Amino acid sequence: MPIEVNSVSYVYAKGTPFETSALRNVSLTVENGEFVGIMGHTGCGKSTLIQLIDGLMRPTEGKILLDGEDINSKGYDRYKLRRKLGIVFQYPEYQLFETTVERDVAFGLKHLGLSKAEVTDRARWALETVGFDFGKVRGLSPMGLSGGEKRRAAIAGVLAVKPEVLIFDEPVAGLDPLGRDALMELTYDLNAAGTTIIMVSHNADALAEYAGRIIVLENGELIEDGAARQILSDVRKLREKQLGISQPTLIAEMMRERGVDIGHDVIRYNELISRVVLLVNGGVQK
Ligand SMILES: Nc1ncnc2c1ncn2[C@@H]1O[C@H](COP(=O)(O)OP(=O)(O)O)[C@@H](O)[C@H]1O
Ligand SMILES: [Mg+2]
Repeated sequence: MPIEVNSVSYVYAKGTPFETSALRNVSLTVENGEFVGIMGHTGCGKSTLIQLIDGLMRPTEGKILLDGEDINSKGYDRYKLRRKLGIVFQYPEYQLFETTVERDVAFGLKHLGLSKAEVTDRARWALETVGFDFGKVRGLSPMGLSGGEKRRAAIAGVLAVKPEVLIFDEPVAGLDPLGRDALMELTYDLNAAGTTIIMVSHNADALAEYAGRIIVLENGELIEDGAARQILSDVRKLREKQLGISQPTLIAEMMRERGVDIGHDVIRYNELISRVVLLVNGGVQK
């Protein structure tokens, strides 16, 4: 189910003194099963792009197509969009509002025509997937959960719908390292099971580890769209654009500067380690 963003522009508060051009003529296609990372400075239009893809706002110009259908055309079935796309906002915990965790997670399942037993199964699966003991957490008030737990409960609510495409807007911001790793591993597993992932992130390490493709926005324009390896190993350009650089890439660069040729395309820890091992064993090819 490809998502096509066709020459999309978005202007906030059009026609007022507060008019802001947030996106200009952005085009991209996301194919089924991709893991796409979106990078760019604050204010470059990442959240705007995601809200347009998710149908929360309409493009000022251009079209968003899902399976070839214009999601903003008259008569487009909005429930279809809600079933297919799940969005996790930067602070999803603010989306919690039901009296119990189970009710909250089941909220998005209302219009799916599932039986009561199926709804419970989905809630159980989603809560267990994000690391909860279903029996223990189901009756608790979401308000009583810790920050990290709230975040996980909110993500469970999005997962429960089993969307084909999961969109994350800076999901690891404010999470501790353990929670961050767990969330990234979860997205990896979901992607391996076929879910398309679109993730806005400032975390170059996480994107290097998981994303297959990277899109870079700058001042509302798409300036890069390509293989993660190619974009994330281009240290010179990343530095010039003041974008994050993954630790393994930085370490590889430091080693090159010291005359150790470790290759120019290292972006992940396991690659760095295996190259170092090769080097120590004297087997590096020039
Ligand atoms: N609700 C809004 N009203 C007016 N301007 C907005 C609104 N939301 C975002 N903007 C502006 O649109 C631009 C893009 O914002 P945003 O998409 O939130 O960027 P990012 O997510 O990359 O930080 C920025 O200039 C921002 O100030
Ligand atoms: Mg944003």
